[in-house]
Amino acid sequence: MENLDELREELLSAVAAADSVDALESIRVSALGRKGRVTELMKGLGKLDADERRVAGQSLNAVKTAVSDAIDARQGGLADAALESELAAERVDITLPVRSESEGRLHPISQTFDEIIAIFGEMGFSVAEGPDIEDDFHNFTALNIPPEHPARQMHDTFYLPEGPDGERPVLRTHTSPVQVRTMQTVTPPLRIIAPGRTYRCDSDMTHTPMFHQVEGLVIDKTSHMGHLKGCLIEFCRAYFEVPDVPARFRPSYFPFTEPSAEMDIGCSRSGGELKIGAGDDWLEILGCGMVHPKVLAACGIDPNEYQGFAFGMGIERIAMLKYGIPDLRTFFDADMRWLRHYGFVPLEVPTLLRGLTP
Ligand code: DAH
Repeated sequence: MENLDELREELLSAVAAADSVDALESIRVSALGRKGRVTELMKGLGKLDADERRVAGQSLNAVKTAVSDAIDARQGGLADAALESELAAERVDITLPVRSESEGRLHPISQTFDEIIAIFGEMGFSVAEGPDIEDDFHNFTALNIPPEHPARQMHDTFYLPEGPDGERPVLRTHTSPVQVRTMQTVTPPLRIIAPGRTYRCDSDMTHTPMFHQVEGLVIDKTSHMGHLKGCLIEFCRAYFEVPDVPARFRPSYFPFTEPSAEMDIGCSRSGGELKIGAGDDWLEILGCGMVHPKVLAACGIDPNEYQGFAFGMGIERIAMLKYGIPDLRTFFDADMRWLRHYGFVPLEVPTLLRGLTP
């Protein structure tokens, strides 16, 4: 019989060197399998006499056990190693911090847009957009402001150089042209808000040449002034986060609505501090009305079949009111100290469910 110590060392070192489960398996087969070397030696035991057989049998068994244990141990190690490397390859470092919370801030204008969209979104409005550079038709004529209309003077329009068509494009003076563009392309019923930038050649304590508005438009067959009032009162409650906001609608004039109104909400100003809600004073916050039949017709909608309401409000103004920002011009100073003070954490998205403000 061959030298069992050598055989054992040879097999054990082969096991130790096996670098895959497959390699290990072929070692097992060649040593302990049906025709394996150890198995063959076992078969040879029968030819020995009883004493020799007992001694050789014990030694062979010891070899067999040692090799078999080594294979088992090595197999566990190889499986662990395979799992380790798979895990390492698929590793995602979830300990990496998200964008630092302490640095960037959302501008109050962006925050206010997000809040308005959250509220009207919940009421079934979708967001519409239009270009900042408009033509005369969308900014004025379709909105029932013909060329010689005095309302054109009130708009302090920025005109751009004449285009190839002989017309001078304008920087839109309000978001109302988005009403026109929506009605031209969407078949009613429709319900949209249009937040965006607007421009007027005006600059003082309470005016900046660029500012922001949000427009609202509802067109269907039945919406009336009562729906307009309910919708806007609900908006003010949600936006100012005050359950009881008294509201009043004062008759007013806009060329694109008939009747037209301005909405005031209740407030108090005791001790120099403005508080929205029941009080002894009123604050104007937006313009609104029933869409003028001429506007519907100019946009290709039959005024005998459809009707609806519209509103428009200034974003800076309602942001100043809610967040106690005293000076309009600071919105556009790009002053980091101001932004750190009045800005918002970008990841705290306003929703009605969780709350609009942190
Ligand atoms: N476009 C008006 C403005 O800029 C605001 C406005 C008033 C919009 C009444 C409307 C509305 O849609 O119905 O002053």
